[in-house]
Amino acid sequence: MQLAGKKIVLAISGSIAAYKTPHLVRLLIKAGTEVRVITTTAAEAFVSPLALATVSKHPVYSNVADGNAWNNHVELGRWADAMLIAPCSANTLAKMANGICDNLLCAVYLSAICPVFIAPAMDEDMWLHQSTKNNLDKVRSYGNHIIPVTHGELASGLVGEGRMAEPEDLVSHLADFFEKKNNSQLKGLKALVTAGPTYERIDPVRFIGNFSTGKMGIAIAEVLAAQGVAVTLVLGPTNLRPQNPAINTIHVESADEMYDASIKAFTNCDVAILSAAVADYKPAEKAPEKIKKQGDTLDIELVKNKDILATLGASKQPEQVLVGFALETTNELSHALDKMNRKNADMIVLNSLKDVGAGFGHDTNKVTLIDRTGTKTELPLQSKQAVAEAIVNHISELRNAEKAV
Ligand code: CTP
Repeated sequence: MQLAGKKIVLAISGSIAAYKTPHLVRLLIKAGTEVRVITTTAAEAFVSPLALATVSKHPVYSNVADGNAWNNHVELGRWADAMLIAPCSANTLAKMANGICDNLLCAVYLSAICPVFIAPAMDEDMWLHQSTKNNLDKVRSYGNHIIPVTHGELASGLVGEGRMAEPEDLVSHLADFFEKKNNSQLKGLKALVTAGPTYERIDPVRFIGNFSTGKMGIAIAEVLAAQGVAVTLVLGPTNLRPQNPAINTIHVESADEMYDASIKAFTNCDVAILSAAVADYKPAEKAPEKIKKQGDTLDIELVKNKDILATLGASKQPEQVLVGFALETTNELSHALDKMNRKNADMIVLNSLKDVGAGFGHDTNKVTLIDRTGTKTELPLQSKQAVAEAIVNHISELRNAEKAV
């Protein structure tokens, strides 16, 4: 069991779902973890600290100071391998989003250096409120893991979104996290990921670009980072950002900038995944001033950009794994295979534009993985997260096959 020996701080805030937490503690202990419980004052209206102390076999912490004793929040935050805030009320979520520190739970959260998992629980209208959405986005951007709410009966008597995930699901969520982290054969490696579009400036206000959002590449960077890989993400102009603060993001605009950053990062990388939609051409000259409207037509001379994938392919060391992407509309497989050989890549992720829900901007994607061993793996239409996991697993298999030779 992946959780055996792990130290978990379970922080309980005020929500009816708190009544499930003694069972949650039982399950965590059964999974081999050591549990320390923190409650807010509001939580104690829903669950008894005595019950929690009995099942966790340890006194429950509620206040920053109990009588003359000071509860060392820094120590607790550093002790834990994971902090689970379940249930996380709308109020606690808002405090976490804004760095408010008016109770022990918030103090431990702000001191925690371990991964933090948040299991929200609230009525549907609160859950759907724009401020809750903003707060969730904020805490997610700090690198916290949100465990999705479920649909069902709520304290109000209404049925809808906002129920805390069941204790069994919370435990398996934690177990999955540690399993991925501990069992990944890529753990400790260094990876370069390129993502997003590039903008090629025509003049100070115009550019040639494309519709890439970087979603796929960011998902790959997240999956690698979750497996303990040190990731450098070279990201073209997009509003999207990775959530994991461990990802080293280098922001670039043009293909030339992406080329320079990628060449630099590749030298000591074990794996490089080039998912960026790099502009193949750039204007031969960038006009220093805005180009004024003149005749009925305008000619802009374009020159070829340097090919990052091909350059890395040419300098690649045998143990480095290089992955490229291809977007083809005709003879897809043969073009992708040709691209892999021409650019000396170890694998090509072939994107299809023909499937609804696949491609730029969508949350889903449908790809075929083609590797240098000649294997073709056609994946179904699935979330970009699932596609990212499949790509990363395939890379791991390729590295294993290499070692076995
Ligand atoms: N790529 C790159 N640098 C470029 C252009 C592309 O690194 N200047 C990478 C992309 O990130 C992707 C792969 O090469 O991983 C495929 O890009 P694509 O533009 O389709 O390849 P081309 O060889 O230009 O083929 P095509 O004839 O389809 O344009």
